[in-house]
Amino acid sequence: MAVILDGKSLRNKLLENLKKEIDEFEVKPSLAVILVGEDPASKIYVNNKRKTAESLGIVSTVITYPQDVSEDVLLAKINELNRDSSVNAILVQLPLPKHINKQNVIDAISPEKDVDCFTLENCGRLFTGLEPAVYPCTPQGILFLLDEYNIDLDGKHVVVVGRSNLVGKPMALMTLKRNATVTICHSHTKNLKDITKTADVLISAVGEVLIEDDMMKDECVVIDVGIFKDDSGKVRGDVNFDAVSKKVSYITPVPGGVGPMTIASLMLNTVKLYKKQNKRSL
Ligand code: GUN
Repeated sequence: MAVILDGKSLRNKLLENLKKEIDEFEVKPSLAVILVGEDPASKIYVNNKRKTAESLGIVSTVITYPQDVSEDVLLAKINELNRDSSVNAILVQLPLPKHINKQNVIDAISPEKDVDCFTLENCGRLFTGLEPAVYPCTPQGILFLLDEYNIDLDGKHVVVVGRSNLVGKPMALMTLKRNATVTICHSHTKNLKDITKTADVLISAVGEVLIEDDMMKDECVVIDVGIFKDDSGKVRGDVNFDAVSKKVSYITPVPGGVGPMTIASLMLNTVKLYKKQNKRSL
């Protein structure tokens, strides 16, 4: 039986410590979230972010827009938030509607307030191995979880399934920085199973049922970033958890694995940006 990588417990521990730190701050850190449209998953994510922030004493503002909002309106709001020194962190919830140029909107965020590490400047820093303002929430949360269980990546073969800007690509860069040998697989990969079978750490961020127990070696560490509701309404990930957890060494559950770590990361990132901005103005 695999050891369960318990994201919920680690989140609770990290946030408990973070709350103590925030309690000491006279002026509280502040996170502004922009939510466009009615995407049900986005609404749930944003609500969770807001509730978690508020429970820690982080000032949380959610700015909502209808699906047909113009790009100019979003850009004007982001510029206003950039100039507002009481706002430390800005998050534009993705996905955005198709008529909006996502990169234009993201890149309007001041890199110092870019809590997701989405702007070109911060992505460029990540790419070159320089320090971005903060690291992207989900990959960083996964590394915190691996560190908590003393799972070292040096020299290991990390296989990332999925090539999104949100998870797959930054995950690959961040594990590379930890001296892993990294392979990225995606929908056009021809011999997926041959590759995943050689993984020491297998990270799946696809959003569909894909990873079965015959796709990895027994010692594998399996990280499941996928989260969706199956036909019966059950929340599940990319990995066939019941079968795979009987075989491998470590595995994240869904829910309760990567999801809570992403939220914890966002809160830690908000406070990190707050501290950097306050240090500079002293
Ligand atoms: N949509 C799904 N996950 C995320 C995230 O971590 N950040 C943002 N901005 N949008 C998302």
